[in-house]
Amino acid sequence: KRREGKKLYWQIMETARAYFESQLWGEAGAAARHYLTEREIDEETAKNFGLGYAPQGWQNLLDHLQSKGISGKIAERAGLALSRNKGSGHYDRFRHRVVFPVVDIWDHTLAFGGRTIAANDDAPKYINSPETKFYTKGEQLYGLHAAKQGIQKAGYALLVEGNFDVICLHAKGFDTAVAPMGTALTSEQARLLQRYCDQVVIAFDGDSAGEEATVRCLQAFSEAKLEALVIRFDELEDPDTFVRRHGAEALSQKIEQAQPLVAWALDRVLAPAEGDNVDRKLSALEEAGDVLRHVGNQLAWEHYAQEVSRRLNIAPKLLKDYIRRPDQLRSRARQAVIEAHRPLELDSAEY
Ligand code: CTP
Ligand code: MN
Ligand code: MN
Ligand code: MN
Ligand code: MN
Repeated sequence: KRREGKKLYWQIMETARAYFESQLWGEAGAAARHYLTEREIDEETAKNFGLGYAPQGWQNLLDHLQSKGISGKIAERAGLALSRNKGSGHYDRFRHRVVFPVVDIWDHTLAFGGRTIAANDDAPKYINSPETKFYTKGEQLYGLHAAKQGIQKAGYALLVEGNFDVICLHAKGFDTAVAPMGTALTSEQARLLQRYCDQVVIAFDGDSAGEEATVRCLQAFSEAKLEALVIRFDELEDPDTFVRRHGAEALSQKIEQAQPLVAWALDRVLAPAEGDNVDRKLSALEEAGDVLRHVGNQLAWEHYAQEVSRRLNIAPKLLKDYIRRPDQLRSRARQAVIEAHRPLELDSAEY
């Protein structure tokens, strides 16, 4: 029964996808095609990703689905339509947007993302399919179907934030780009990547949201035993704008100089605290502990722990005990930081 339901779901989504594609490449799609051209997405790339256009109006897709025997109720259950507040009936979820099919590794369409092409910002920039019985957001990576061969060949994946980052990078020859679509990377997504490579280069947006999302990747990557590297951009840039402004060569260079995620995450908490007051050092110590917890390899752990101890000027032994048993040692650590210039050597047997 579930299998049949799944097949029917795929059929509905494929019908919608074909409809959106026909709209993009037909008369109604002129503005959307212009929009893609402005963003330097060529026709071949757009077709490779199955991009489409959801036209203006309230029931274009619904009418099309109806003509294929798919009711408004079914469209609603598939996340393509919403039910009207007043009266009965439904209206299209995606209107006047470029739509991106979200496909699984076998190219089954599971969901859509839609970006407005309106110049004003009355409409939300992105609208996505809701999760359904057959679509769980955190289990899919946008672009993986198109990128999986490139990833296997290169031995690594480029992890970016958004739909346009993926598509633009592919258009510029970076065929390893995939995106978790605005969420932090989940363990499932990391495991999915692990099937194709052992290394991931995180290239999230330059803003603080992108920085924080990069830190939040630590757990998923260490669980999946994926080696994670990081590249960062200026505050206002993302991979899409960077590659268009500075070129593919500049991005390749950045990728070559990518830094290990753990080293980057530690530097991010240590750099502002070096030579700072006790409270700042202590909070840096806590944050460094959160990073080190995700380092599984004993040698790497020792290496990074030593760096923390050197940069915060805390005796290595105390630091290690502290990170392993923070609650018991918090007050001792505080004292040690206060007495930073004559670090305490503590014996853990004391506790
Ligand atoms: N996103 C979303 N809903 C939002 C904002 C973002 O689902 N309201 C997701 C989209 O998948 C988007 C990604 O998060 O691609 C990254 O968001 P953001 O950096 O804000 O958007 P950009 O992709 O850079 O948008 P643009 O099209 O302007 O380049
Ligand atoms: Mn962003
Ligand atoms: Mn720049
Ligand atoms: Mn962005
Ligand atoms: Mn962008």
